[in-house]
Amino acid sequence: MTAPVIEARGITRSFGGLRVLDGLDLSVAPGEFLAVTGRSGAGKSTMLGILGTHDLAFEGSLSVGGRDVRSLDAEGLAALRREFLGYVFQDFHLLPDLSAMENAVLPAVFSGTLDGDPEEQAREVLEHLGVRIDDTPTSRLSRGERQRVAVARGLINRPRVLLADEPSASLDEESENVLFDLLDGLRRARGFSLVAVVHTRAVLSRADRVMTLEGGGLHAAS
Ligand SMILES: Nc1ncnc2c1ncn2[C@@H]1O[C@H](COP(=O)(O)OP(=O)(O)OP(=O)(O)O)[C@@H](O)[C@H]1O
Ligand SMILES: [Mg+2]
Repeated sequence: MTAPVIEARGITRSFGGLRVLDGLDLSVAPGEFLAVTGRSGAGKSTMLGILGTHDLAFEGSLSVGGRDVRSLDAEGLAALRREFLGYVFQDFHLLPDLSAMENAVLPAVFSGTLDGDPEEQAREVLEHLGVRIDDTPTSRLSRGERQRVAVARGLINRPRVLLADEPSASLDEESENVLFDLLDGLRRARGFSLVAVVHTRAVLSRADRVMTLEGGGLHAAS
């Protein structure tokens, strides 16, 4: 069996007296599409934030690419994120005054490590996702367009895993299908794993595996 690209064991995370994650276990295989579902407040975003190494205040162990995140200093962690992890936030976190292209290249500009021209890389993904490339600030784009810019930004450093928190929330059914067609095409071409919080049956049926987050842990969805 190939080594998992993410391995989480016994992840527990509390906020004050509220234990949101309680001994959560998860292995993500290279290239797989894992869909995560669960009711609002179940802890899906909390879990993705931990897998994305944005939140280190958890108990338990987390390895990404075979490396224990706790064994790394700040620089090592930044390098790990660059190499392995792309992230699409539930509320996008785009810079509203910047264009689609400017937003999409930001992680590559910050890390400064991408081989080749970041704009060329971004153009490839933006075009693939059908985003018009011009100077329009993203604040003027439609919700669906902003969602696709956020996905393009998550992919700019060619991560091994894309963590996507409801990447199609509030899109109509057709736009959602289009987004996942494009995302699936990219995933197959590049071979990254996709861990996405999704809710609709159409998208859940595309996943290799569906897990429900409930009671602080993940359960195979029936
Ligand atoms: N930084 C924080 N401080 C305090 N409580 C938090 C924090 N982050 C999350 N929580 C709490 O943890 C619980 C899980 O939140 P989370 O955002 O992970 O849920 P979710 O499953 O993503 O929900 P949704 O489907 O609505 O996005 C909620 O009760 C939330 O209020
Ligand atoms: Mg959430």
